[in-house]
Amino acid sequence: MKKIKIEGGHPIHGKIVVSGAKNSAVALLPAAILCNGIVTIDNVPKISDIDAIKEILTYLGAKIECEKDKITIDSRTIQNRAIPESLAKKLRASYYFMGALLGKFRKTEMSFPGGCSIGARPIDLHLKGFENLGATVSSNENQYLVETPKLMGADLYVRHSVGATVNLLLSSVFAEGTTTIHDAAKEPEITNVVELLQNMGANIRGKGTDTLIIDGVTKLHSASISVIPDRIEAGTYVIAGVLCGNQLEITNIIPEHLNSLIEILQKMEADITILKNSIIVSKKENLLPANIKTEVYPGFPTDLQQPMTTLLTTVSGSSTLEETIYENRFKHVSYLNQMGASITIQDKKLTIAAPTELIGREVVATDLRAGASLVLAGLTAMGETSITEVEHILRGYENIIEKLKNVGAKIKLEEI
Ligand code: EPZ
Repeated sequence: MKKIKIEGGHPIHGKIVVSGAKNSAVALLPAAILCNGIVTIDNVPKISDIDAIKEILTYLGAKIECEKDKITIDSRTIQNRAIPESLAKKLRASYYFMGALLGKFRKTEMSFPGGCSIGARPIDLHLKGFENLGATVSSNENQYLVETPKLMGADLYVRHSVGATVNLLLSSVFAEGTTTIHDAAKEPEITNVVELLQNMGANIRGKGTDTLIIDGVTKLHSASISVIPDRIEAGTYVIAGVLCGNQLEITNIIPEHLNSLIEILQKMEADITILKNSIIVSKKENLLPANIKTEVYPGFPTDLQQPMTTLLTTVSGSSTLEETIYENRFKHVSYLNQMGASITIQDKKLTIAAPTELIGREVVATDLRAGASLVLAGLTAMGETSITEVEHILRGYENIIEKLKNVGAKIKLEEI
């Protein structure tokens, strides 16, 4: 068991280098098995979610080589095997192997995926899409079986679901004829996956739009890709800098991927400077409150709702934060209130009275981004904050302790 301890009130100054995007990498690695060749992926973040994906790849018989942030996957020895609960349960993105194995072998058998407890998180859109491509979907108490003699191109509707868009891309690249994914998600991570598939020889049009058109091909070949910078990791550190930064530079980013956050922070009159590949932020007194609603990309990302809640407890006036993507992404609120915040929840909308003084407390990371919001709270709170269940945080933020320590935060990871 590990615990993060933070002594709050210290300004953070210097440079934080952002890693590759978790939500890209967990899709790019499974996508790599679609070719009978070798795929090289660089800028892969070293986080436990990636370790879990690598475990599944090895289980399926792929040969993996890792060198610094580069992973090489040789999928010529892949076997189609049922993915057991012990592997599938480790993360939600394990379900990308359903799309990849269905696409490659026209059959997949997998236990139900895992993932953060932020709502029911059904996969009905994925399964409906597989059926529209001609597959039969059956399930027992904890496993799915999806198979078909032939994948046929079809019109698919995914209601902007990130996961369903990726999974149906992976399962349609070899489908006969044309597949059109309507209302596709437009998150930058999707574009990263489309680029890899195109590099492998897939025929995909509409990259970056909400309509993806895939003309089936018969095979894919070796290729390489770089994981895009993690816009959610970057956004988390930008918010940390607005909270307690002194010229904190967050670098190796694509600022336009953070436009919705930047616009809101500028409206709040935050001290923020946008450069070509980085953002520089500093703490400023009396920031203006904000009324924010999470939306699909390019709207304000649900993954920054929880870190943003922490910032809104410190501004000069009451703010609101409406969560439209998940039905239960507020588990950080009770811990922030224990630390001195004054947040109420009505339906799926937070009202955050401010400014309030946060005091260090013993708190629990209930999910990845809730944990991130508590780290930010610890950085700005009076006294010491200790956070348990930190595995949730370490699964999605590469070297978060070192990155914050290097810019002056008094933060450490303790074994308990
Ligand atoms: C991806 O999850 C991300 N995870 C999430 O990030 C992110 O919050 C989410 O996209 C939205 O941006 C990964 O990429 C690994 P969705 P995903 O399918 O694909 C409902 C993080 O913190 N839905 O767009 O699961 C679903 O329940 C994680 O890094 C269905 O109803 O998101 C949710 O309410 C958390 N049926 C909404 O749609 C389906 O078949 C959005 O889900 C699929 C989804």
